[in-house]
Amino acid sequence: MGADKKIPLKFRIYMMMYPLRIFMKSLVNNFKGDEKMGNFNLNGKKAIVFGVANDASIAWNIAKKLNDNGVRIALGYQERAEQMVKPLLRMLNNPIAEKCDVVDDSLLDEFFKKVEREFGKIDFLVHSIAFAKKEHLQGKFYDVNRRGYQVAQEVSSYSLVELSRRAVPIMSKDGSIITMTYYGSEKVAPNYNIMGIAKAALEACVRYLANDFGEKGIRVNAISAGPIKTLAASGISDFDKMLSHAKEKAPLKRNIDAEDVSNLALFLCSGMSKNITGQVIYVDAGYSIMAI
Ligand SMILES: NC(=O)c1ccc[n+]([C@@H]2O[C@H](COP(=O)([O-])OP(=O)(O)OC[C@H]3O[C@@H](n4cnc5c(N)ncnc54)[C@H](O)[C@@H]3O)[C@@H](O)[C@H]2O)c1
Repeated sequence: MGADKKIPLKFRIYMMMYPLRIFMKSLVNNFKGDEKMGNFNLNGKKAIVFGVANDASIAWNIAKKLNDNGVRIALGYQERAEQMVKPLLRMLNNPIAEKCDVVDDSLLDEFFKKVEREFGKIDFLVHSIAFAKKEHLQGKFYDVNRRGYQVAQEVSSYSLVELSRRAVPIMSKDGSIITMTYYGSEKVAPNYNIMGIAKAALEACVRYLANDFGEKGIRVNAISAGPIKTLAASGISDFDKMLSHAKEKAPLKRNIDAEDVSNLALFLCSGMSKNITGQVIYVDAGYSIMAI
């Protein structure tokens, strides 16, 4: 009772309405017919997707897009996201979903055992995970402490290496690994701070992993997305300013959305991208080409 009172009313209403919102979405989805199937047929393929927190998550949009193109999905989600993830599962075709945290080896062992038992082989790994303490996503970068630096790197960068090492032995030839990054890895974005450093490391990991797994035919790429309003984004101070700045400066004069990212992810999973590996590919309405 006491704990309930501490949860802001706005959030409690959001949580109460969430299942209804997802139900309505699934109804709309069922009526969409043709649009539901994309142009890429990946029938019979299987993907592991990490990073679904709710229906706004980039990972969710990718999972749904792959699902609608014939891919069976195994979701690894954090315990705290369970209430938001469960209602989404009915929109997927025969998924596996299991609580998992990338800093917990025993949960990772369980997750990968389950995926191997149920799927045998997999074809794709989608890594859409990042975390830094809120206090390290504002103010001066140099105020980050040792633990904050380690946590951001471990969850946002090292986890790609850990998940790839576990996924590749059960991955089919021609597999594809995709991660999410942001331009703050290359240029200074105020408040992005430690996450920019973690993303720089992540992008370097992509290149080294692409080289390691190239001989197996497995590709590794990063999608560098423009700002999108999600749970993780809400942790970045002045995120709304990032959104409006991106819109104003981008050649296309608009923000992107998670659907744009999922379209690129679909391409990167398909044979259409068979000779693209080790790359950071931008979906940012052109923002990153501008000097001023
Ligand atoms: N939203 C943006 O503007 C934007 C732009 C470019 C890149 N990205 C990147 O996209 C990815 C997805 O973020 P999002 O914007 O969809 O936000 P999100 O909050 O929906 O997703 C972040 C996910 O990371 C997961 N996560 C955090 N710590 C974890 C851990 N220890 N173990 C397992 N999972 C963990 C969370 O549960 C959550 O599902 C992140 O890498 C983010 O940096 C986001």
